[in-house]
Amino acid sequence: MDALARPIVPPVPKVHARPVNPLQLIWGMSTNPLTVWSEQDFEILVQKNQVLGRENWLVNDPAWVRHVMHEAMPRYRRPLASARPVRPVTGDGVLLAEGGEWRRQRKMLAPVFTPAHVGLMLPHFQAAAEGLVRRLQGAATANLSAAFHAATIDAVLRALFSLSDGADRADIARLARGYIERAGRPNIFDGYARSHEDFGFALASRRRFQRRWTAAVDGVVAARRSAARAGPHRDLLDLLLAARDEDGRPLPDAEVRDQAATLLFAGFETTSRLLFWAAWLLSLDTLEQDRLRAEVRAFPPERVTRLEDLEHWPRLRLVLLETLRLYPPVVFLLREAVEPDEIDGQAVSPGALVWMSPWVIHRHRKFWDQPDAFMPDRFAGQPSPWTGAQPYFPFGLGPRICIGASFGLAEAQIVLASLLSRFEIGLSSSRPVLPVGAVTTRPDHEPLFRLARA
Ligand code: HEM
Repeated sequence: MDALARPIVPPVPKVHARPVNPLQLIWGMSTNPLTVWSEQDFEILVQKNQVLGRENWLVNDPAWVRHVMHEAMPRYRRPLASARPVRPVTGDGVLLAEGGEWRRQRKMLAPVFTPAHVGLMLPHFQAAAEGLVRRLQGAATANLSAAFHAATIDAVLRALFSLSDGADRADIARLARGYIERAGRPNIFDGYARSHEDFGFALASRRRFQRRWTAAVDGVVAARRSAARAGPHRDLLDLLLAARDEDGRPLPDAEVRDQAATLLFAGFETTSRLLFWAAWLLSLDTLEQDRLRAEVRAFPPERVTRLEDLEHWPRLRLVLLETLRLYPPVVFLLREAVEPDEIDGQAVSPGALVWMSPWVIHRHRKFWDQPDAFMPDRFAGQPSPWTGAQPYFPFGLGPRICIGASFGLAEAQIVLASLLSRFEIGLSSSRPVLPVGAVTTRPDHEPLFRLARA
C-alpha cells in the first residue's frame, strides 16, 4: 500500500459481489461478521429477509434506526444471541438489563458520567497516559494494541475505582483480551439457544472465564472497599456502595459486582480499540500524524485541567471521530422485536431480528463521499456528530446510547495526545491489518509499531 497516496483508503475484508448463502453466513458470523456483507448491503436502506426460517431485517436508514432504538424502543429488546457472549463478563449489570430494571440502573449510574464528573477524571487519564509513555520509553518497537489495553484498563481503575498502580491490572487486561479472542466469540449455539444455559456443553470455557473474571472484579471491589475507609472518593464504587433501594437497603453485593464488571469491561475494551485503530490510521497517514503532533505540542497534555481544554485539539477530535466511523468498536446494534411493529410500511413480527450495523451504515455508499477513505475533515464543525442527523452511530443512540461516550473520548484524546507528543509512530511491517468484528472490532493480528522519539 502506498502510504503517501491521500486520502488513505485502509484495507477492509472482502465485500461479496452477491449476497452470501446461509452456510457462508453462519461461518462468517462465527469467525468474522465483517466478512458477510455484499455490495448491495451498502446500497439498500431497509431490507426484510427470511434467514434460516427467521424474520431478519437489515436497517440502514438512519430514520428507521432511530425508530427502533428510540421511538419504538419498548417494542424491542437485546436478543439472547447477542447477550449470551456478553453475560459472563457483565452479569446482570446495566448493559444487559431491560425495562424498569434498566431504567433504575441507568438512573443510578448517570451521575458518574456527567460532563462535570468526567472533568474530574482528567488527572486519572493523564496518569494512565503517563504510565503508557513511561512503559514505551526506550523501546524501538511496541505492540500498541496490548499497550492501549493496559493503559485504558489503568484509566478505568483509576477513574472509576480510585485504584492507582497495581500488578493485577495486566492480568485483568489479559483475561478480557483472551475472552474476546476465544470463548467470547459469538457461535452458532448462541443463535439457536433459548436461554443463557442452553447448550451447556458449549459453555465450559465461558464458565471458566466467568469464575476467573468474577474473582478479578471481586478483588477490585475488595481493594476499593478497604481504601474507602480513608474517606470518600466520589467515584463509581462510592456511588454503588451509597445507593439505597426504595426500602433504604444497600445494593446486594452481586449487583455491586455486576455493575463494576460492566463498567470495567465496557470502559476499557471499546476505548482501547479506538486508540489502536487511530494509531494504525496515523501510521498510514504520516502527514496527518505530523499535523496532530504540531497541535498537541502547542497545548501539551499536561496543561489540560478542564474538559474545555480539549478544545485546543480540534484536529485530534476529528481524527478520533473519523476512526470511529471507519472502525466502530461495536459493529452491530442488534434488537429483537417483542411486539408487532412496522418499519418502512412493512409489518415486523414479534421474534424478528433487526440488524443495525454501524460498520455498514458508516460505509454506506449513499450516505458518505468516498466511504472507505480516511478523511477526518468530513466532520469539521461537528464536535459531536452522533447527536445530529448524521448516519453516525458509534455510541448507539436513543435512551440506551453509550453512557461513557464523553468519558471514552476524553480519555482517548489525552492518551493519544500524550503518545504523539513523545513518539513518531510507524509500522514495522507492510502486512495489512484487517478488522475482525468480535465483541468489539479487533485487529486480525497485532502489528508491531516502530517508535521514534518525536
Ligand atoms: C470509544 C469508546 C466507546 C464506544 C465506541 C462505545 C460504544 C457503545 C455502544 C455502541 C453502546 C450501545 C450498545 C447497544 O445499544 O446495543 C454502548 C453502551 C454502553 N457503554 Fe459504551 N462505548 C464506549 C466507551 C464506554 C465507556 C468508557 C464506558 C464506561 C466507562 C461505557 C459504558 C457503556 C455502558 C454501561 C453501556 C450500556 C448503556 C445502556 O444500555 O444503558 N462505554 N457503548
